[in-house]
Amino acid sequence: FEDIVHKTKPSKREGFFFKKEINSEERLILKGISGIVFPGELLAILGPSGSGKSTLINALGGKLNDSNITKGTITYNGKPLSKSVKQNLGFVAQHDIFYPHLSVNETLVFSALLRLPNSLSKQEKMLKVKEVIDELDLNHCKDTIIGGPLLRGVSGGERKRVSIGQELLTNPSLLLVDEATTGLDSTIARKLVMNLCELAKGGRTVVMTIHQPSSKLFHMFQKILLLSDGNGMYFGKGDYVLDYFSGIGYSPLVAMNPTDFLLDLANGLLWWHSKPGHIKDKVGLLFYYTQFCGFIPMVQTLFTFPEDRAMIIKERSSCMYYRLSSYFIASNVIDLPVQLFMPTLFITITYWMGGLKANASNFFQTLSVSLLYAMVSQSIGQAISAMLFKNDDIYSCGENVTCLVGNYPTIKHIGLDNQGMSVAVLVAMLVGYRLIAYFALIIRMTHN
Ligand SMILES: Nc1ncnc2c1ncn2[C@@H]1O[C@H](COP(=O)(O)OP(=O)(O)OP(=O)(O)O)[C@@H](O)[C@H]1O
Ligand SMILES: [Mg+2]
Repeated sequence: FEDIVHKTKPSKREGFFFKKEINSEERLILKGISGIVFPGELLAILGPSGSGKSTLINALGGKLNDSNITKGTITYNGKPLSKSVKQNLGFVAQHDIFYPHLSVNETLVFSALLRLPNSLSKQEKMLKVKEVIDELDLNHCKDTIIGGPLLRGVSGGERKRVSIGQELLTNPSLLLVDEATTGLDSTIARKLVMNLCELAKGGRTVVMTIHQPSSKLFHMFQKILLLSDGNGMYFGKGDYVLDYFSGIGYSPLVAMNPTDFLLDLANGLLWWHSKPGHIKDKVGLLFYYTQFCGFIPMVQTLFTFPEDRAMIIKERSSCMYYRLSSYFIASNVIDLPVQLFMPTLFITITYWMGGLKANASNFFQTLSVSLLYAMVSQSIGQAISAMLFKNDDIYSCGENVTCLVGNYPTIKHIGLDNQGMSVAVLVAMLVGYRLIAYFALIIRMTHN
C-alpha cells in the first residue's frame, strides 16, 4: 500500500422540520501511509486509540465507505482489489458476531457449509473444519457454546480464535485481523499472536492491529507500522524500531516495555498542538507536569542528607566548624536554581507545544504553581531524608565528642519518637484534604 490518504467527507444533514444545515468538517484520518508485507510475514499496526489503525486495516480489506475519500494505491501481488483477490482475503473485524447458542464446532461447520465452494464434498468440508480447529488449538473447547452477554460461553481469546478460524476455512493467503488482542490477558494474547505467527510462517501474509501489546509479544512482530494521529512514524523491521528511535535521539530513560515506549512517543506527537477537543491529551500532559515537578524532585532530594552525612561528619571533626544551619541553608540555596531551572525549561517548551491556553497569564499561573509544587515536593523529600538519620546515630559535636543525632536541637524539636503521632497527623491530613475536596465539590455544583 502506497501513500494512503483517507478523508471523511463533510457531511450535510438537513433538519427534519427546519431548513437548517449541519455541516461536519472534513477530517483527514490517514495522512499518506505506505508499507509492504510479503508472504510469511506478520505486520503489526501499532498506535494510540484514534490514530487510524482500524481505518487503515479496513482500507486494506477494501471495506471503507465509498462516500469518504481514499487516495493512494493498494495492490495485492501487484494487482488491484478484484473478486479473486477478495476470495483470498480473510478479514476479522474488531467486534465479532456469532450465534451464541452454537458450539465452536457447529459455528465453524456452519461457516464451512456456507462459504466453501460446492465443488467440495460435505466430508471434505468437515475435514477442513477439523484442520482449522487443530491449527488454532481449539480442540478442548470445540463442544462449548460460544455464548454472549447473558450466556456464559468460551473465553474471549477462544472467541477471537473462532472468528479467525472462520476466515481460515477458505485458506486465505492474506489475513487481516483488527484488534487481535483487545480485552485479553497477556498470556492468552500471547497464545493468539503465536497462532497468528504460525499462520504467517506457513506462508500466509498476516496484518493485525494491536492495542497495548506486552513486551513478550513485541519480539514476535517481524514488521511494525507505528501510527500517530494518521501519520506513519515508523515502518520497518520490528527488531530495528528501538535502534531507529534511539538513532534520532529518542531512547527510553528507564527500562520499559518497548511498545509502551512507542505508544508514548506516538502520543507525544499528539501533544504537538493537540486540538481543543482533545481533552485527554491535555490531561495527560498536565499529569506529566505533576510527575515532573512533584515526584522526581522529591525522589532526588530523598538521599541528599544521608549522602552528605559522612562528609558533614568528616568536615566538622576536622576542625572545619560550621553550624548545621549553615550547611542546611547552603545546600538549599545551591540546589534551588538547578531544581527550578529544569521544570521551568520543561514547562516553557511543552506548554506552548501542547497547545494549552496561549496567553501569558495562564502560562505564568501554570509555571508558578508547578514551581511551588516542585519546591513543596522537595521539602517533603528533605523531611523524609532528614528523618533517615536514625535516632541512635551519632555525630561528632566537638573535638573527640560525639552526640546523639536524636539530641540535635532541630531533630529533638521535631521529635522522631512520636511515630504514633505522625501517623495520626497523616491520617488527619488524609481525611481533611478529602473533606476539603468534598466541600469544594458541593460549592462548585451549587454554583452551577
Ligand atoms: N467515517 C468516519 N467519520 C468520521 N470520523 C471517522 C470515521 N471513521 C473514523 N473516523 C475517525 O478517525 C480516527 C481514526 O479512527 P480509527 O477507528 O481508525 O482509530 P483506531 O486507531 O482504530 O483506534 P482504536 O485503537 O480506538 O480502535 C478517529 O478519530 C475516528 O473518530
Ligand atoms: Mg480500532
